[in-house]
Amino acid sequence: MTRVNLHEAAKQLGQGAVIGVPTETVYGLAASLDQPNAIENIFHLKKRPLNNPLIIHLAKAADVQPFIKHDLPHLTELMAQFWPGPLTLILPVKETLIPPIPRAHLPTAGFRVPCHPLTQALLELTGPLVMPSANLSGRPSSTLPSHLEEDFGLNFPVLDGGPCAHGLESTILYYDQAQWVIIRQGALTPEDFKTCLGYPPEVRINQKSQAPLCPGQMYRHYAPKTLLHPLSPQDASYRGTVLGFAGRSYPLFCRFVNLGDLKNPHSIAENLYTHLRKLDEELLPEALVDMNFPATGLLATIKERLEKAISKA
Ligand code: TXA
Ligand code: MG
Repeated sequence: MTRVNLHEAAKQLGQGAVIGVPTETVYGLAASLDQPNAIENIFHLKKRPLNNPLIIHLAKAADVQPFIKHDLPHLTELMAQFWPGPLTLILPVKETLIPPIPRAHLPTAGFRVPCHPLTQALLELTGPLVMPSANLSGRPSSTLPSHLEEDFGLNFPVLDGGPCAHGLESTILYYDQAQWVIIRQGALTPEDFKTCLGYPPEVRINQKSQAPLCPGQMYRHYAPKTLLHPLSPQDASYRGTVLGFAGRSYPLFCRFVNLGDLKNPHSIAENLYTHLRKLDEELLPEALVDMNFPATGLLATIKERLEKAISKA
């Protein structure tokens, strides 16, 4: 892997390169908002459908103001409380100021101010960067520099910020019919917003009947090549690999991969994509996953990621 330092990364981004960049959630594949060819290149590199928009990352909350078409209730409070941090806000934009490709021709765009110190320093140098997660479309996101090497090759330039602290993508909020709703679960839970909004936002994903609020959530996602199936009581004599949790009992002759302790969801989140990616390194054809855990707090995000990874469509 080609590691680039902060100044080299800023210089290359200014010249239209695409670079792997750390954030506190997952690694991103960055291009400057001013470089349309580089933005198109992101879609090619990821093999990402063009109707799946990208998030615009900014150095500070104040930088979002020029782009926004009109204010929304609680917007100032949300930005003040959660930025910098793992929250993406979908906002109505002045369409002349943001090229159509990153927002997939929508009248809105996703914005986030990351809190990783290296990302912040980079954004100060470069200005707005568009960054999807740094993985081939549909694969688990990257939470280590070596994950980018797996997906984009040994020579891909990466700004090394070490392991990502959260290990799960940002939570995405969208304003709909007088309330904020979560259109992608993430590192922040509905309860985290209760003080700010006065209510925990409803989680609204996978609505089959209407146009998708969050196009990226429609696809099979976060998935290794290894086929995953939920562990069931009929699997008592299974001899393959089982992804499960500390302190639980699993089929006697299986190989147990410990995703962590359900009492410490943060540590499960931090290593989740590394565990999923390791299955592919081992060229395992299939593995079972213990899905028998409550969808509460951060475990709800973890469960949703595993459900998407298991999903066949
Ligand atoms: O934590 C994160 O959010 C990471 C880091 C790198 O910041 N980024 C990330 O980007 O997860 P990506 O592209 O993998 O996921 C962005 C999601 C997609 O599902 C996309 O459909 C949705 O955000 N999105 C972006 N702009 C949108 C918009 N205007 N309306 C609805 N959904 C949008
Ligand atoms: Mg992604």
